[in-house]
Amino acid sequence: MTNPVSPSGPADLTPARIVQLLDQYIIGQTAAKRSVAVAVRNRWRRQQLNEELRQEVNPKNILMIGPTGVGKTEIARRLAKITGAPFIKVEATKFTEVGYYGRDVESMIRELVENAIVLVKKELQIQNEATATQRCEERLLDLLCGPPPHSAHSQRTELASDMSADESNDDGATESGMESAKSIETDSYAKLRSKMHSKLRAGQLEERVVEFRIEQKSSPMMFGALGGDHMDRDMQSMLEKFMPKSSKTKKALVKDARKVLFEQEFEKLLDEDQVNSQAIALAENLGIIFLDEIDKLVASEGKGADVSRQGVQRDLLPLVEGTIVNTRYGQVRTDHILFVAAGAFHKHQPSDLMPELQGRFPIRVELSNLIEDDYVRILSEPSSSLTRQYAALLETEGVRLDFTADGIRQIARHAFQLNQTTQNIGARRLHTLLERILEEISFTAPDHQGRITTVDAAYVDARLKDLLADQDLSRFIL
Ligand SMILES: Nc1ncnc2c1ncn2[C@@H]1O[C@H](COP(=O)(O)OP(=O)(O)OP(=O)(O)O)[C@@H](O)[C@H]1O
Ligand SMILES: [Mg+2]
Repeated sequence: MTNPVSPSGPADLTPARIVQLLDQYIIGQTAAKRSVAVAVRNRWRRQQLNEELRQEVNPKNILMIGPTGVGKTEIARRLAKITGAPFIKVEATKFTEVGYYGRDVESMIRELVENAIVLVKKELQIQNEATATQRCEERLLDLLCGPPPHSAHSQRTELASDMSADESNDDGATESGMESAKSIETDSYAKLRSKMHSKLRAGQLEERVVEFRIEQKSSPMMFGALGGDHMDRDMQSMLEKFMPKSSKTKKALVKDARKVLFEQEFEKLLDEDQVNSQAIALAENLGIIFLDEIDKLVASEGKGADVSRQGVQRDLLPLVEGTIVNTRYGQVRTDHILFVAAGAFHKHQPSDLMPELQGRFPIRVELSNLIEDDYVRILSEPSSSLTRQYAALLETEGVRLDFTADGIRQIARHAFQLNQTTQNIGARRLHTLLERILEEISFTAPDHQGRITTVDAAYVDARLKDLLADQDLSRFIL
């Protein structure tokens, strides 16, 4: 199997490196970062083992527990980007028990395979790029020059004369070749083609219009109407097979046609069965499923919707334990897929989950509550921190936003205090606070081009004064 994992290669992705990469976005929460990093590394380690032992090594699934807004989902999101392995994040609350209306848990395995297919195709794209590009170029030349002589004479004549018209004098050979013997005709066609080739390469034909056929997939909208949002994907693909494939002619500029033709040629180079089996192997061996909001699967009373939630827990068991799921791409064994579950567990405890399910998440990591210093760092350190986001947004209006150190400290202090006195919503508090602090300037920015706004402690307090004075009001707005 080709190596579909990130360009730097999984060998470079040591636990320390993973933590380092996560550190760029998430402040603190070292224990959680370390355990996901080790779990990801273990996938790679297992790949190095001999076949026999490899079958024995099952992943140790992880349960991340922590209050709301402290980075659980953020860790998953970032991990997805850096692993290069098939990875999906799903909300446990989206599933319904098998037999009920809605998405059943097996759909996440299908989603994981789809994700793997994207990865495999990306890898193959790199391998096949040169061939596809070349074929795409040939197709463009076919379109620009018309088919070779003796196949569709008239069309070519038309195009060739069109060409001599706008290339003025130097096309005499092409013109005369047309009425001559076959060999000369072929010869002149070759000339035309090679001339067009150089022009194409030189980017001189980008604005030419070409006409080509594209195949149209039957509209998924139609099936959407038939089966609603939840219609089974496999069912959908089956229906698609029965639908007549239609193709239509499309006119486009060379520069736009190139993208479509490249896709077509690239798809032709792919062996679908091979892609599917590679993707399945990849998903089975390196796949990671992040199950968010798992605490919401705990039934409180055992009535109504809760019964179905308990059912979802039961449905999850075989998947996490290892089973075979049928997908349209083939059968998928789930034994070695890594599951990382996360939940706030503020109403319930992990021990409220079904005992069998608890047992399948042996690694527990707790994420800690954030304190004032953490908020300062969250606001200032990550390259895409909130303060940088706001500054960049306002810069588009020509307004400069300067956050001073004491301004950031003040925001962090308020965030921490509000989390203490009202509800603790973690770092999400920073979003509500900043929105409030910058409301005025956000609204009026278009009228203040060239202005520099300094967000220091005084500015922060001035903006929040009224709200902070009134507990009820701050509960409501901040
Ligand atoms: N430790 C952290 N470092 C940097 N940003 C953080 C941190 N914790 C939370 N955030 C930011 O706060 C927001 C909410 O975080 P996140 O979605 O990870 O919360 P969560 O732990 O999944 O909470 P919930 O239990 O409610 O789902 C995100 O915008 C995230 O970037
Ligand atoms: Mg979350």
